[in-house]
Amino acid sequence: MNLIRINDLSRDTLEDLLQQASFFSKSPLSTHSILKNQFIATLFFENSTRTRFSFEIAARRLQAEVLNFDADSSSEKKGESLYDTLKTFEAMGVEAAIIRHQDESIWQDLQLPMKLINAGTGIQSHPTQALIDAFTLYQHFGKVEGLKVAIVGDIPHSRVAVSNRECLTKLGATVTEWTPPLFADDKPSQHWEELLPELDALMLLRVQHERHQQTVGVESYLQQYGLTSERFHKLAAHAVIMHPGPFNRGVEIESSLCYHPRSLIFNQVQNGVLMRMAILKKVLQS
Ligand code: CP
Repeated sequence: MNLIRINDLSRDTLEDLLQQASFFSKSPLSTHSILKNQFIATLFFENSTRTRFSFEIAARRLQAEVLNFDADSSSEKKGESLYDTLKTFEAMGVEAAIIRHQDESIWQDLQLPMKLINAGTGIQSHPTQALIDAFTLYQHFGKVEGLKVAIVGDIPHSRVAVSNRECLTKLGATVTEWTPPLFADDKPSQHWEELLPELDALMLLRVQHERHQQTVGVESYLQQYGLTSERFHKLAAHAVIMHPGPFNRGVEIESSLCYHPRSLIFNQVQNGVLMRMAILKKVLQS
């Protein structure tokens, strides 16, 4: 099996991954010989901290050998295609490739025996982040089914929003999305703070400055559309804050809320390793 999009996976597979990540969470620093002597390549054509390093740590915890492809110093610069790069790795004995790329259409040309994992492509998909977020909710609430989750922010540029909508909905949560008017063609009928009292989880999204043609005014964004302390107090007492990261402090979230006891932002990071261990096991053993 490959892991390209959430919608390619059944609910049973999503639930298996939650259970496997739960199992790994019982001894989060342990290593397992599950992928011993197997080679995995990471190919990141867009920047990353969390996804790249958590995959690398996850692979090492499973005792796999990890090769980091650097596009700038590779034969891609001599014109080698992604397909031929992967065929080259395959010929050397690499069994799986973890790919982040700006172009979602790459997947249609990559029919290979090698296992493929999507580490975020374009503005369309980031399935492993969505699985991490679902696991973080599952760990905190003991379930995903029935939760009310709002995703708020730069949704038109967010691959995380697409994959989270697919994943959380498939697991039985109710997902509401809200886009600030400056990113939306239509003015929303209500301000998102009206949603707050009903929610179990509020998922904020980064303003993706690098994908905007015009500069977004960061000072006014927090006051108009970000999570301020005042808005935070409108959430129910049990509700939690999430953000896939990296976050723009003082833009989509007030700085002091990033480390609030009801912020799961760093639980999401921690769970990145556990869920990616579960994903590597599932994909490589399928
Ligand atoms: N959430 C996420 O994908 O972060 P990185 O871009 O740092 O990998």
